[in-house]
Amino acid sequence: MLYRKMPRVGEEFSVLGFGCMRLPVRNGQVDEAAASRMMRTAIDKGINYVDTAWPYHGGQGEAIVGRLLEGGLRDKVTLATKLPSWLVRTRGDMDTFLEKQLVSLQTDHIDVYLLHSLTADRWENLMRLDALGFMEKARAAGKIRYIAFSFHDGLDCFKKIVDAYPWDLCQIQYNLLDENYQAGREGLRYASGKGIGVVVMEPLKGGNITIPMPGELGAAAKKAGYSRSTLADIALRWVWNHPEVGLLLSGMSSEEQMDQNIESAARGRPNSLTPEELAFVKAARDLYEGKMRVPCTACAYCKPCPKSVDIPQCFSNLNNAAISGNWEAQKANYLYILADDRDGNRASACVECGLCETRCPQHIPIREKLKEVAAAFETSAA
Ligand SMILES: NC(=O)c1ccc[n+]([C@@H]2O[C@H](COP(=O)([O-])OP(=O)(O)OC[C@H]3O[C@@H](n4cnc5c(N)ncnc54)[C@H](OP(=O)(O)O)[C@@H]3O)[C@@H](O)[C@H]2O)c1
Repeated sequence: MLYRKMPRVGEEFSVLGFGCMRLPVRNGQVDEAAASRMMRTAIDKGINYVDTAWPYHGGQGEAIVGRLLEGGLRDKVTLATKLPSWLVRTRGDMDTFLEKQLVSLQTDHIDVYLLHSLTADRWENLMRLDALGFMEKARAAGKIRYIAFSFHDGLDCFKKIVDAYPWDLCQIQYNLLDENYQAGREGLRYASGKGIGVVVMEPLKGGNITIPMPGELGAAAKKAGYSRSTLADIALRWVWNHPEVGLLLSGMSSEEQMDQNIESAARGRPNSLTPEELAFVKAARDLYEGKMRVPCTACAYCKPCPKSVDIPQCFSNLNNAAISGNWEAQKANYLYILADDRDGNRASACVECGLCETRCPQHIPIREKLKEVAAAFETSAA
């Protein structure tokens, strides 16, 4: 495992962090036996940074991570979790969330505590409620060690937040498709230039970069010698290629993905991609960018939907169809997965309440896009 030193923090973190938003799932539940094996492998192979949050896995994520770190593993990792900024209404709420998180995670302190998923509105609300005062008090009490934020808004807002406080770390979405999206490359350089350690999330755009490669892209990949898994490899190494990146969090949903990403991490040095690899990244980006219909990363922050519409599944089928060109196969998959007797509903069940749009970190016009999904897959002409 390679390590990089976080400037202000002064500690070395593994270049690959374990993002616990996408633990392996079986029959709708986290497969804790598999997740536990993964956590042990991760730590044995040198991963020392674990990231979770209040809403992951339907609100059970922190308690699950607490169990995965039992038996002395907790002390071997830097544990990060986040204040669910969109749920904070009063100053007291912040104390309540933190206390509950300490209990769920079975720990007396959280190493990295982030203001979660900041946007301009949430930042304004948190400043009004003195969230930084709360964080500093929690640090003085030994309940948290590092003060940080994660971010999902535009570059100007990012710079404003960076400038507002001497943050230890920040967490941004960054991958080869999002080089100029949200904080983007300029934000990465800006934060790093101010001595803030940068943690990258969604390095594979939530798995969008590794979906089966269609026509032109498939042919380009094959010619260059890439398969689905090697595309993950090059996309992760593209992130590590940036010297300003401290570590990246990978949401690994199987033991195979973890093994593979650990191997990739061994080659995750700054400025290490060859000109041929950089040319392939550019070709892949050009093809994907023109084809994706919805920039959904399946983070599921939009859930729960009052009508149980499985929004990430709807958008996954739409994107897969648009990228692969195989509309019939995606329609069949959509109708099978979102069948009447399953948990998730189809796009046509949307009543346009808009709750999902207030939560989506990608700011997707979900109601409008669901209509596109319904038109594509639920009409007989589709
Ligand atoms: N603070 C925030 O606002 C925020 C938001 C989002 C995420 N996060 C954190 O950042 C972490 C990383 O984000 P992410 O989970 O979106 O990461 P990601 O790496 O962009 O996407 C993870 C998905 O990529 C696919 N994948 C991973 N390794 C692969 C491999 N070797 N081969 C093929 N496919 C592979 C898997 O998709 P399949 O399951 O389809 O195979 C996996 O579920 C999260 O887990 C979470 O801890 C934070």
